[in-house]
Amino acid sequence: MNTAVTPAELLAKYDVPSPRYTSYPTVPFWDEKPLTEERWKSHVQQAFRKTNSKEGISLYLHLPFCEKLCTYCGCNKRITKNHAVESPYLEALLKEWDQYLALFDEKPRITELHLGGGTPTFFSAANLKNLLERLLEKTETTPDAAFSIEVHPNATNREQLQVLYDLGFRRLSVGIQDFDPYVQLIINRIQTFEKTKEIFDIAREIGYTSINGDIIYGLPHQTAKSVRMTIEKVKELRPERIAFYSYAHVPWKSKGQRRYSEADLPAPEVKRGLYELGRAMLEEAGYIETGMDHFALPEDELCIASANGTLHRNFMGYTPRHTELLIGLGCSSISDTGTAFMQNIKEVEAYEEAVHTGHLPILKGHELTGEDMLLRTHIQNLMCRDYTSWDPEELPYFVDALMRLQPLADDGLVEYSNHDIQVLPAGKPFLRNIAMCLDSRLWASKLTVPIFSKSV
Ligand SMILES: C[S@@+](CC[C@H](N)C(=O)[O-])C[C@H]1O[C@@H](n2cnc3c(N)ncnc32)[C@H](O)[C@@H]1O
Repeated sequence: MNTAVTPAELLAKYDVPSPRYTSYPTVPFWDEKPLTEERWKSHVQQAFRKTNSKEGISLYLHLPFCEKLCTYCGCNKRITKNHAVESPYLEALLKEWDQYLALFDEKPRITELHLGGGTPTFFSAANLKNLLERLLEKTETTPDAAFSIEVHPNATNREQLQVLYDLGFRRLSVGIQDFDPYVQLIINRIQTFEKTKEIFDIAREIGYTSINGDIIYGLPHQTAKSVRMTIEKVKELRPERIAFYSYAHVPWKSKGQRRYSEADLPAPEVKRGLYELGRAMLEEAGYIETGMDHFALPEDELCIASANGTLHRNFMGYTPRHTELLIGLGCSSISDTGTAFMQNIKEVEAYEEAVHTGHLPILKGHELTGEDMLLRTHIQNLMCRDYTSWDPEELPYFVDALMRLQPLADDGLVEYSNHDIQVLPAGKPFLRNIAMCLDSRLWASKLTVPIFSKSV
């Protein structure tokens, strides 16, 4: 091992564009060959038969609207103050769901339902009720089902939280990002601690049992002082889970990020310092790091899953539940059958139009090869358990990966043998780089345009 390497040198070497590995293969490396609707439906039916009576299925609903642009945001969103968009969009979601229902020979059993955005609470309480009642009408839920929603405190009210609770929601994910007023000004997101606390208080009063808080490190003009102050305040709110995200700078796809420049962002070593400061504060407050960017209180099921090696990662993030079938409804949503992926059309109007023709709104897809499935398992193991091992006959799939890992092993980030890979503590910040060594599709590609945010 090269013991002389300093943290700054590690950053200089490894803070490079890399995928976040919510899946493998990652979207830019999906097959160029179009996935036909028939093929996709047959993948869905097979996965449904395999999983529905056992673990059930997962549903993700993308609700893309926001009243105001948060300039840092890297998600697929549509900014509008026109609430007349709600009804046509929810009708399109239900039409899309009907097309899936037609494929099933028994009632779907929902084990995970997540509403993401955009800002799902852009929709009125009445529209959320209408959408979810109709969506859940022809379904059952598994005994341990988890229903969750992302909320922006400035755009959430008691009535919405009550309606969702009555429909079975027990989890909230609250966008916080940073409480420093200067950072908030730059990211165009003025959100007071009082308003945020009000939403936490209302949610707990109603009966929500698990609240997640999203914080970001590496935002423009963020300093150690702002992160310290933000985390001190978050500790007062005591969410059960905290996503402490690395800011993803992707101005070529998220135009809002062009309102500031790279010079406004903390330098890589400063950004890394912000993460380390946050992690130390969260650990001191009793939180446990459960997966890349995620912390939870010890009694939370994410922590329990992490401790007993059953943590999973899918397009919605880390989860203690694994289902063979994840259906994503709404513009830009990604679905996963275990054997294939499919992404919906991204633009709202084009998505709605496609659904109304009676077809699934397929933008693109990918059918996994045997090698894809094998590498996916091992990348998932590294992202969730910092360790993976394989049978001797699978070694040929790892020869190139192990060669790519050698410099990282020399720098003390990983250890490997001819049957396993162990991420070392110094390698945790570079998990994306380690997983990238196994990403044979990325290495085989000739892509040179910036398509990923940097690792750290
Ligand atoms: C769809 S957004 C949140 C929902 C809600 N609209 C809100 O703003 O509170 C989900 C989360 O993604 C994270 N996020 C969005 N853009 C990001 C970026 N560029 N880098 C890192 N995290 C980001 C934020 O922490 C955000 O809370």
